[in-house]
Amino acid sequence: MSEKITSKEVREKHAKHLFPAVANFYEEPAVLVEGHGTKLTDLDGNDYLDFFGGILTVSLGHSNEEINDAVIAQIQRLTHVSTLYPTVPIVELAERLTAATPGKLEKAFFTASGTEADETAVMMAQVFTGNSELVALRHGYSGRSLLAQSLTAHNTYRAVPSQIAAIKHGLAPYCYRCPMKLEYPSCGVACAKDLDELIQTTTTGKIAGMLVEPIQGVGGFVTPPKEYFQIAQEIIAKYGGVFIADEVQTGFGRTGKMWGIEQYGVEPDMMTMAKGIANGFPLGAIVTTAPIADSLKKGSISTFGGNPVSCTAGNKVLEIIERDDLCGNAEAMGAVLREGLEALQKKYPKIIGDVRGMGLMQALELVKNEEAGDRTPNPEATKALFEQTKKRGLLIGKGGLWGNTIRIAPALNIGEDEIREGLKILGESFAAMETA
Ligand SMILES: Cc1ncc(COP(=O)(O)O)c(C=O)c1O
Repeated sequence: MSEKITSKEVREKHAKHLFPAVANFYEEPAVLVEGHGTKLTDLDGNDYLDFFGGILTVSLGHSNEEINDAVIAQIQRLTHVSTLYPTVPIVELAERLTAATPGKLEKAFFTASGTEADETAVMMAQVFTGNSELVALRHGYSGRSLLAQSLTAHNTYRAVPSQIAAIKHGLAPYCYRCPMKLEYPSCGVACAKDLDELIQTTTTGKIAGMLVEPIQGVGGFVTPPKEYFQIAQEIIAKYGGVFIADEVQTGFGRTGKMWGIEQYGVEPDMMTMAKGIANGFPLGAIVTTAPIADSLKKGSISTFGGNPVSCTAGNKVLEIIERDDLCGNAEAMGAVLREGLEALQKKYPKIIGDVRGMGLMQALELVKNEEAGDRTPNPEATKALFEQTKKRGLLIGKGGLWGNTIRIAPALNIGEDEIREGLKILGESFAAMETA
């Protein structure tokens, strides 16, 4: 990289040489050049508090020294041999992951991304059950391959018509915008029960499984009611399917427990993971039962999957999460964050329609006028909040089908002072929007 390059030149090169689909945040995207802990610095010397962690990925902070030391030592020893040879980091990570996941999940397969992990899980469900049809949910996101786009029910990320006809999308457990126009809890979680009819009416009646996020990430941190997954899992099992929890966003302590699905008291047959697994190094995984893993009789190679450098980072991540009780910190700091966001909602009841999430995975859904009962999505307000928070040195995320949901997911080892600093900036930014 040229030391002399300016941020304007970087933005120009980005526009010229990358696909326009690789969209950046902000009117004038920040060119980030350095990060330490929860802080990032751009090429112009501006500092930011990071409340999005590279999309819920840098969960232990930027340039984490312990991870860096382990990775540098591994790079100097061995960077790649492929899965044709066992390596120390891959077996250690498989051992750790299978110990950290619920009891019956005892075999791991590594990939280089979350998309591939979801692809692998679907293939395994089909191989194991002999069935081909899959259930996913509206507003869900599974990645960018053709199968993952077909699982995804969010037209922002579907470039071509669904290539996999055997995927049926159930109603999202999106209480703020209930697809059945009901209220929880008097609804009796009707959206979960509707999966039965979905399977009876749109499939052969024999399904391979259901792949679902415990909290829909890209969908805007849509958080299902507590009974949802128990009801769903029972229905899926009744029709011969396996239950796959996509923990790409919710895994590794994000919600205040190691796995998002644990919040619902459900043990899946498979879990897919990526993002927070290796603090930013490319790695994905699926963990499943021995019978499911053993059902694959063909070979399956992932050249980069389980790379020793990424696995070394993954080993350190798990060691630190457990050693420093980062699930506990995510729960405690998540409570501080949530309280602050709810206080903001009280102060700005017109625009902040909903506050939702768990642990350090919290969202604000912005609408036209909640007070007047107008829940029309307000992506213009999201854009304005982005500019105001950036100006004040805070990076946040967004999501939701209409791009009107603010996603907040700082590092799991964040302290209370930084949570309060971020909340203060959010408050000042909403105030500035009101007077603008
Ligand atoms: C829940 C979920 N699954 C799968 C993926 C795909 O992961 P990747 O971008 O690593 O391919 C994502 C990415 O955002 C995700 O949020």
